Amino acid sequence: MQYFPVFLNLQDRSCLVIGAGQVAERKIRLLLRTAAQMDVVAPDCTENILRWADEGRIALHNRTYRSSDLKNRQLVFIATNNHRLNQQIFAEAERLGIWANVADAPEYCDFILPSIVDRGPVIAAISTSGRSPTLARKMRREIERLLPAQLGRVAEWLSAHRPTVMDRFPDETVRQRFWQDLLDTNVMEMILNGQISQAEQQFNQMLDEIDHHRKGEVYLVGAGPGDLELLTLKALRLMQRADVVLYDRLVSDAILEQVRRDARRIYVGKKRAYHAVRQEEINQMIIELASEGKRVLRLKGGDPFVFGRGGEEIAGLMEAGIPFQVVPGITAASGCAAYAGIPLTHRDYAQSVTFVAGHLKDNESLQLDWQLLARPAQTVVVYMGLENLDQLLAQLLNHGVPKERPVALIEEGTSEQQRVIIGDMTTLPQRVREAQVRAPTLIIIGEVVRLHDSLRWKE
Ligand SMILES: C[S@@+](CC[C@H](N)C(=O)[O-])C[C@H]1O[C@@H](n2cnc3c(N)ncnc32)[C@H](O)[C@@H]1O
Repeated sequence: MQYFPVFLNLQDRSCLVIGAGQVAERKIRLLLRTAAQMDVVAPDCTENILRWADEGRIALHNRTYRSSDLKNRQLVFIATNNHRLNQQIFAEAERLGIWANVADAPEYCDFILPSIVDRGPVIAAISTSGRSPTLARKMRREIERLLPAQLGRVAEWLSAHRPTVMDRFPDETVRQRFWQDLLDTNVMEMILNGQISQAEQQFNQMLDEIDHHRKGEVYLVGAGPGDLELLTLKALRLMQRADVVLYDRLVSDAILEQVRRDARRIYVGKKRAYHAVRQEEINQMIIELASEGKRVLRLKGGDPFVFGRGGEEIAGLMEAGIPFQVVPGITAASGCAAYAGIPLTHRDYAQSVTFVAGHLKDNESLQLDWQLLARPAQTVVVYMGLENLDQLLAQLLNHGVPKERPVALIEEGTSEQQRVIIGDMTTLPQRVREAQVRAPTLIIIGEVVRLHDSLRWKE
């Protein structure tokens, strides 16, 4: 069962709690924080339930359940200590279309009460969809630690300033950006520290910087080789700021999930045959979007400056006078090597490392400095080399590389699906064919590959 998070406004809603004892008491205690109208049916009650009834906060019916209790209810909480009775009440509620929740029985719940972290109007809800209350509690503790106790105060302050911002910036995009920019300053700390006049000053100053909030800019960001946790903090921050994201094939769904939810997503994955034309189109699109005042995230696999054509993209921005930032990412060579347990350099085996692109120039042949790549005591990393693996290894053999030199091919490096295929200059191609590998793949050639046997740490 998978629950969908919804926050209900219980103001004046008619809720019914059936049951006595601690479980019912816990539900009632939660509901008392809302403005729900609450009736409680319980043959015998805890001290607290009696007190709440005395205080007029709940209407207590000191008896056993009757079917008529369900009439005109919107939510019902069932917590008697009779399992069959709970099921029977649940079935009756279902027939009447009333949402019901049987305590500690996820299979008899139309809704659940998540674990919450409550900071005044700011509420974080955590649920494991009934799978593990212990995990939910652990997550709650972690979130408790992250959210300052006075966070509610910040929300109230921001809320009080919304009409002013609405007047000043009628355009929604500009308004959103104003809020983002404001929260990127230390205004939150000021409010939390009670320095309200400083916060007001900061707010007023930013209200005057209208041009700044209107201006578009571009973030050229490296998303790393695949594993979500290899994203940089800066990449994450800018992903949350962007109005629109242009991404390509190498950016995984999990990474794309981190982009601001309401940002427009544009897939610009490249088809190899149309590479040159498409790149120009992408460059143009980025410029147009930024000129419209958008914050454009150009999200690329690995590092944008390693076989990523990042240089061409920012050259266009430079010419058009559009502000931009470049955020490096972990390139495939570093990511794949680390996760395969193959150090790219090593005191005993390789004093240098060279990255090369293994695709054909003009659809003809590989044009690389074979003499240089064939030298000993180095590591050669080949990007985009799968299709031309045979030609690549044949050229190296022709230029004097011994056939025993070890070679690794890493498929979908750093992801859950990562596979590492090891061979040498003559055996690897056949092993790769047998393994039926899929892109993206990276090839590492050099004596360091031998270390994979002893240094591999990932299954
Ligand atoms: C156009 S290049 C982009 C490289 C990227 N900018 C970087 O820094 O990793 C694409 C090539 O990178 C390599 N690559 C990228 N991610 C990879 C991964 N997770 N596993 C293996 N190879 C990868 C593959 O060789 C793929 O064909």
